[in-house]
Amino acid sequence: MHLRACLAALCAALCANAYAEGPILIKFSHVVAPDTPKGQAAQRFKLLAEQATHGRVKVEIYPNSQLYKDKEELEALQLGLVQMLAPSLAKFGPLGVKEFEAFDLPYIFPSKTALYNVTEGEIGKGMLKKLESKGITGLAFWDNGFKLMSANRPLHKPADFKGLKMRIQSSTVLDAQMRALGASPQVLAFSDVYRALQTGVVDGTENPPSNMYTQKMYEVQRHVTVSNHGYLGYAVIVNKKFWDGLPGDIRGALEKAMKDATTFEKAIAQRDNDAALEAIRKTGKTTIYALSVQEQAEWRRALAPVQTEMEGRIGKELISAINKEASK
Ligand code: LMR
Repeated sequence: MHLRACLAALCAALCANAYAEGPILIKFSHVVAPDTPKGQAAQRFKLLAEQATHGRVKVEIYPNSQLYKDKEELEALQLGLVQMLAPSLAKFGPLGVKEFEAFDLPYIFPSKTALYNVTEGEIGKGMLKKLESKGITGLAFWDNGFKLMSANRPLHKPADFKGLKMRIQSSTVLDAQMRALGASPQVLAFSDVYRALQTGVVDGTENPPSNMYTQKMYEVQRHVTVSNHGYLGYAVIVNKKFWDGLPGDIRGALEKAMKDATTFEKAIAQRDNDAALEAIRKTGKTTIYALSVQEQAEWRRALAPVQTEMEGRIGKELISAINKEASK
């Protein structure tokens, strides 16, 4: 036998042995609570994946930044220390894939339908493809919802943001958004937000109700405005080398499990956010304010320049393409 053939045979035997020895482990790390749309869908994926592979795959879920915080988890995925993540779309900029920040543009999606036109169409596919050069394979887009703004003072008009320190995710678009409102943005990891609000390191923040409720931010924020000014969603991603190295039948079964978990996630996201907003209201600790039509118009006016300002970073063509898809 030639040396190359010997090596191939040895490698095949070792690989087969590795799989025979124990299940393939997928460590799925995320930063939110288990009872959020993302947390529940991760659980659903685990269940479906383990069932479909008859135990040949084991999925371990690490919620609530237990293993890694926002930025660290992306590094850990690239290093192969974890295999699967679902970071919010606002967190891909520091990885060098700025296009994802388009999802953060204020008021770019008038509805969930408009959003799905983008994530499930060619634009969404193209964005996931961009991750490959970073050693990452994009599997799906998961939903969360439209964001609230919160602080310890009422936020009815753009002028109310003046001088406030607002926590943001690591997105240049969100930075520009807060500046357009007259606030000072500050990037903080999700796991640090509660304490930062409690101790006054920042005055306010933005998030969909499910995150605000499950992190108990309502305990330290007296005012919430239902502004729906922007969207927060996720991309489920895996380490490319790990994914490509899986036996074909296993990868196929996992793709199917991910497809079903994604359908489940989309079905529960809005319902969970509606329930979380109601639960925040019931605590009586936070006043919930809905913008009047006139106030909404003022917010839109104040935030409109952000799209033009961000063309240089995200790409004018991509922004126009999203606007076109979203208006269908
Ligand atoms: C945040 O950092 O505010 C969110 O991205 C957390 C999450 O993953 O939903």
